[in-house]
Amino acid sequence: MIKACIFDLDGVVVDTAKYHYLAWKRLAAEFGFEFMEIHNERLKGVSRMRSLEILLEVGGINMSAGEKERAAARKNQWYVEYISEMTPAEILPGVTQFLDYLKSIDMKIALGSASKNAGMILERTNLASVFDAVIDGKKVSKAKPDPEVFIKGAEALGIFKAEECLVFEDAEAGVEAALSAGMYCIGIGSPKILQKAHKVIPGFQGVQPADLLRF
Ligand code: BG6
Ligand code: MG
Repeated sequence: MIKACIFDLDGVVVDTAKYHYLAWKRLAAEFGFEFMEIHNERLKGVSRMRSLEILLEVGGINMSAGEKERAAARKNQWYVEYISEMTPAEILPGVTQFLDYLKSIDMKIALGSASKNAGMILERTNLASVFDAVIDGKKVSKAKPDPEVFIKGAEALGIFKAEECLVFEDAEAGVEAALSAGMYCIGIGSPKILQKAHKVIPGFQGVQPADLLRF
């Protein structure tokens, strides 16, 4: 029986995946190459520095550690400009209703995100008080697909049996992280990309909440 739900943030709760993509695309353009959506899929769920490394690999660019730090900081500055304008209207369709349902049945809810900007996004969208625990990029040392973020999320909720946890993820790396934690995982997005998840849904709009929790 599922006793805790752990949500990824970017691309699951809010539509911030598009802002990450815009900022990376802008950085790539400065380096003189086009960063396309097909490449962007590999960046989802992974840490900022790892994302930069993938982007540089795509563009065939070498950089020193110092240059990488500066490039990642530049990308983040643009990203923060985008998200600082966010409002609750950018919570993805059906998410608020699903979270309300989980609250009504006393389900424990955590956030498990790789982002160091999670706190700001939760504030801008009025979601900060919804989660019983928030594990974000500032609290983990190993990025997805490592399961650390979800294991810490479950622990923070006081749940110690992985099979009682259900993770919602839009990234392949995130699905892998949930599975290697031994948790159930529902993919949000395309079944082609998230095929390893236990179930895949396009989004939360129109779902029967109780059905999602049945395994
Ligand atoms: C994840 C995103 O949630 O957070 C990744 O899917 C992103 O694309 C990662 O790189 C780190 O985010 P941030 O906000 O710390 O740069
Ligand atoms: Mg995500």
